[in-house]
Amino acid sequence: NPRRMAENITIPEQATKAQIYESLLPQIKSLTQGETNLIANLANISAALKQSLHFFWVGFYRVQEQELVLGPFQGPVACTRIGFGKGVCGTAWKDKRTMLVPDVHQFPGHIACSSESQSEIVVPIIKEDTVAMILDIDSTQVDDFDETDQQYLTLLAEYIASDLLT
Ligand code: SME
Repeated sequence: NPRRMAENITIPEQATKAQIYESLLPQIKSLTQGETNLIANLANISAALKQSLHFFWVGFYRVQEQELVLGPFQGPVACTRIGFGKGVCGTAWKDKRTMLVPDVHQFPGHIACSSESQSEIVVPIIKEDTVAMILDIDSTQVDDFDETDQQYLTLLAEYIASDLLT
């Protein structure tokens, strides 16, 4: 079956975070580009990110009927719906920009789905100038995300928008 892609990923050991992302992004593309089902692809992308970079929580919220609704994710149970402009996720949606939050306790209006979460990055996935969904990643360590995460997750968000959203 030509649509059947390699359904595993391999990540170099002893690698820097940038090297892990460099290895991971092409593997995410080959894992997803032959599959047309969006939920299947988002599920595997969240698993690939969690497995490779050992994040606490990785997942997608999709814009549906004026709310962010929880989509495929990896990690503990999370909030199901988030309003426009609410929390870190709703702010990324409203402002159409990436939110890098080094300490969630310093972010006014932060929505605590888990008390273990300490820092967070939220990247909007924008199709035709409209936010279609957001990618949210949480860490149990303060200040765990930086420009390297932002750079590679933005590339991933652009790939999802251009190739996986129809
Ligand atoms: N902390 C997020 C809510 C989503 S969860 O962390 C999975 C926020 O403030 O938007």
